[in-house]
Amino acid sequence: MFLTDEEKRMLDGSMGEGVRKAMDMLVAMGKAFDAERMIKVSRTHVALSGQEGDTYWCELLVNGGARCLIPPTTNPNWDVDSLNPVYPVAPEKLFLAARTEDVYRRIGAIMTHCCTPELAGNVPSFGEHVAFSESSATPYVNSILGARSNRESSVSALASAVTGRTPYYGLHLDENRKGNMLVTVEAELNGAYDWGLLGWVVGMHAGNLVPVIEFKKRAYQWIRPTPEEQLYFTTEAATSGAVAMFHLAGITPEAPTPEKAFGGNKIIKNLTVTRKDLEEAQNLVSDPAGKINLVLLGCPHYTYDQLKEAAALFGGRKTADGVHFWILTSFDAIELAKRSGHLELLRNSGVGVVPDTCMDQPCFDGFRGMLNMTDSAKCAHYQKRRGLPFVLRSLPECIEAAVKGEAK
Ligand code: F3S
Repeated sequence: MFLTDEEKRMLDGSMGEGVRKAMDMLVAMGKAFDAERMIKVSRTHVALSGQEGDTYWCELLVNGGARCLIPPTTNPNWDVDSLNPVYPVAPEKLFLAARTEDVYRRIGAIMTHCCTPELAGNVPSFGEHVAFSESSATPYVNSILGARSNRESSVSALASAVTGRTPYYGLHLDENRKGNMLVTVEAELNGAYDWGLLGWVVGMHAGNLVPVIEFKKRAYQWIRPTPEEQLYFTTEAATSGAVAMFHLAGITPEAPTPEKAFGGNKIIKNLTVTRKDLEEAQNLVSDPAGKINLVLLGCPHYTYDQLKEAAALFGGRKTADGVHFWILTSFDAIELAKRSGHLELLRNSGVGVVPDTCMDQPCFDGFRGMLNMTDSAKCAHYQKRRGLPFVLRSLPECIEAAVKGEAK
């Protein structure tokens, strides 16, 4: 693998043991994927998750003197101050959250603690080479923004943040960004929730192919989907499958036409998606409806517009007795909602709005075995594996259920 003189100095330890470890890891990855050389990255995002292995890797680099050349934004860790007093967790888990916070600060990360950096705070431009970890962010920056990133892990993204490099392979190369699967959408899509179900169906069938999606319903041939609709699609396609790149024909920047999106590639798989397929996806992911204990929204983090929509849907009503309701979001969306009056409305309805955290953190462990509800298939899928059953429905249905105490 070709390395520049500067990259060779990183690898031989001249720039410190932490930098050496980071470059060593990237070179190993580059060799595994037959990369000819490294490429400079101008942005990074690390899916810091408070998992011990990721924290240990960051400590190894910091203890070897490494600091970030391209400071990464960070995924949620845990807003201990907001949630720990409500849902106490084991001291060792609290300690790991604090240890993670400390070491990422020391390496020079930007502590955004938000899993949608591509919407605010770390937004790459068309053609920019970046190293993003966070399964929902990577397909968004590739497909919607036209930037270039492979599906990085926390480990490789942090190594790129330290060295400013990533191996030049995969989705950094033109030839791997072209479509090779055709998806024809016959279902009419009404809002972000439907886009999420579509993403789930596409991901199940696509695996790691590059789908080109054509819409039969006229509305989506002429109107751009909202950022939230595109985000729900990318999140679910990357959860049920390993989709890191897709094209929405006539919408996304590398797909002005289906022909351009395929770039001469052979179509190796066809899929048609109807309303029935979306309903089946919901039934597959969702647990059976019934009395609920918790509504958990914001996987991925809710935007300002979604907070505003939730406040409007409550319309001054309150959650039923015994129903906990949390929305996970970013600190800046909370600030905007506060200034604009929506936060107060949500709080008056019994909704907790919390920054910096993730549904996958241990603060929600107390709901194990109880029936819960969400509008995110990713949340339902992850939590089911951890013993938290979730009913999957749209945002309006979640709010109606919260007010009545029961999901339909
Ligand atoms: Fe965000 Fe955690 Fe969901 S990082 S996308 S809330 S799994």
